[in-house]
Amino acid sequence: MKNRHFLFSDTLLFLVLSLCILREASAACHVDDEAGLLAFKSGITYDPSGILNSWKQGTDCCSWSGITCLNNNRVTAISVYGQPDKSNGYLSGTISPSLVKIQHLDGIYLQNLRNITGKFPDLLFGLPELKYVYIENNKLSGQIPENLGKLKKLEALSFAGNQFSGPIPSSISELTQLSQLKLGNNLLSGTVPAGVGQLKNLTFLSLEFNRLSGRIPDIWSALTDLRILRLSHNKFSGNIPSSISSLAPKLGYLELGHNGLTGQIPDFLGRFQSLDTLDLSGNKLTGVVPKTFANLTKIFNLDLSYNCLVDPFPVMNVKGIESLHLSNNKFHLNTIPAWVTSSPIIFSLKLANCGIKMNLSQWRPKETYFYDYIDLSGNEISGSPVWLLNSTDYLVGFWAARNKLKFDMGKLRIVSTLKHLDLSKNLVYGKLPGAVSGLDSLNVSYNHLCGKIPAAKFPASAYVGNDCLCGPPLAPCKA
Ligand SMILES: *[C@@H]1O[C@H](CO)[C@@H](O)[C@H](O)[C@H]1NC(C)=O
Ligand SMILES: *[C@@H]1O[C@H](CO)[C@@H](O)[C@H](O)[C@H]1NC(C)=O
Ligand SMILES: *[C@@H]1O[C@H](CO)[C@@H](O)[C@H](O)[C@H]1NC(C)=O
Ligand SMILES: *[C@@H]1O[C@H](CO)[C@@H](O)[C@H](O)[C@H]1NC(C)=O
Ligand SMILES: *[C@@H]1O[C@H](CO)[C@@H](O)[C@H](O)[C@H]1NC(C)=O
Ligand SMILES: *[C@@H]1O[C@H](CO)[C@@H](O)[C@H](O)[C@H]1NC(C)=O
Repeated sequence: MKNRHFLFSDTLLFLVLSLCILREASAACHVDDEAGLLAFKSGITYDPSGILNSWKQGTDCCSWSGITCLNNNRVTAISVYGQPDKSNGYLSGTISPSLVKIQHLDGIYLQNLRNITGKFPDLLFGLPELKYVYIENNKLSGQIPENLGKLKKLEALSFAGNQFSGPIPSSISELTQLSQLKLGNNLLSGTVPAGVGQLKNLTFLSLEFNRLSGRIPDIWSALTDLRILRLSHNKFSGNIPSSISSLAPKLGYLELGHNGLTGQIPDFLGRFQSLDTLDLSGNKLTGVVPKTFANLTKIFNLDLSYNCLVDPFPVMNVKGIESLHLSNNKFHLNTIPAWVTSSPIIFSLKLANCGIKMNLSQWRPKETYFYDYIDLSGNEISGSPVWLLNSTDYLVGFWAARNKLKFDMGKLRIVSTLKHLDLSKNLVYGKLPGAVSGLDSLNVSYNHLCGKIPAAKFPASAYVGNDCLCGPPLAPCKA
């Protein structure tokens, strides 16, 4: 989900501090620290972009890239970052246990290195000052040890984006100084330990994209500072527990999508007046969306798609929704809601199979400029999208299959950003513009199109069922 809001994370703050302090270091670094860092370097088998090039024996290790020194030139933080957008911006190898020689370490940041393998780094238990651990987007695997709770000084722990499996250790309840706990994008299974409810300083908890199961535990009453709760893409079942209501009003992000949650959406969610993002998509939620949602005045991203929710949908009092996804419920919205049409900042609108019966020619949203995605598939929408697509400069996907759209395809503007266009099963006529060749996916099947198909890579099923489209991959045009 795209978020406008930049999270001023501890990581960044630390980075800025580190850079300032780095410049003040002068005398050579401690011999143990140098040895620990060189051991780390020797555990790296491949460094194609030279991330560790400045780490050279006999030079002041406090001046090496990614190293922070404090207190008489002792190394206190190691920050080694890969570059996710560069194919060679990674490191292969393992985390040397000799890193434990760096006894004053309080922060370890090994992020986006992609190909660091091995088990949980037990050396963490030998570092008495350790407070911040961000070992993210690597390939560590095996279990997280049961004695994790011994790392009592930890204020932030992230192993997000690795391949850890097995349960979240119950001793996690002892990490009472934690403000950030991020274990998302691993292979963790079992239930969420009840002891997480004792981590009163938590502001950020993310466990998304794992294999966690059971109920979402009813443990939230004491976590009153929590701003971000991410549990999406797991196997949780049962209801949304009532103690989540204690997270109002501070909680900004509540993401419970793609689980197996049942029951109704609780009324108390309307009390979350700071809520920026609510994702309940891909569950089995039933009943109506509570009227109390009218009070979610700060919501920017609302995703309730792929549930079994019914009418009436509440009128929302939100000035600027950014993304609204309600597809595939049992709604009969009749029209695109006025509070959506008036949003000055909307970029994603997905209302497939929502019982919309409007004339698209007459829809005049206040803003079209930011639109990336519009999905109106499976409604009873008539008229034409020509004006709409002529007014969006950055549209990436337009899906409107199975409607009653009737317009001249030759007039449709296909902006250079557009990648996906599905107009199948409508009443579209005219010729296909050559610009469709540049799309990643196209479907104009079952319309009234005619003429030669522009050279493109799409299969015949993208074109069948028209009046007289011809040429590859369909039958040749008559001369
Ligand atoms: C990733 O690391 C493994 C094990 O160290 C190695 O076999 C593999 O070649 C590395 N992959 C790349 C792309 O360097
Ligand atoms: C944890 O919360 C307590 C009480 O609000 C506070 O005094 C303490 O400084 C916090 N610890 C950390 C590491 O933020
Ligand atoms: C919205 O909040 C106000 C104040 O807390 C409350 O009086 C009102 O009933 C709420 N509206 C809905 C629809 O829940
Ligand atoms: C939709 O609206 C346009 C413009 O107002 C109008 O020309 C057209 O006939 C309408 N189509 C239908 C099916 O009502
Ligand atoms: C598309 O927009 C341009 C610029 O506003 C305008 O000149 C043109 O007539 C429009 N085309 C259609 C088909 O509405
Ligand atoms: C196009 O849409 C039709 C009708 O919905 C579908 O049967 C076909 O598989 C689709 N083809 C492609 C390439 O998406």
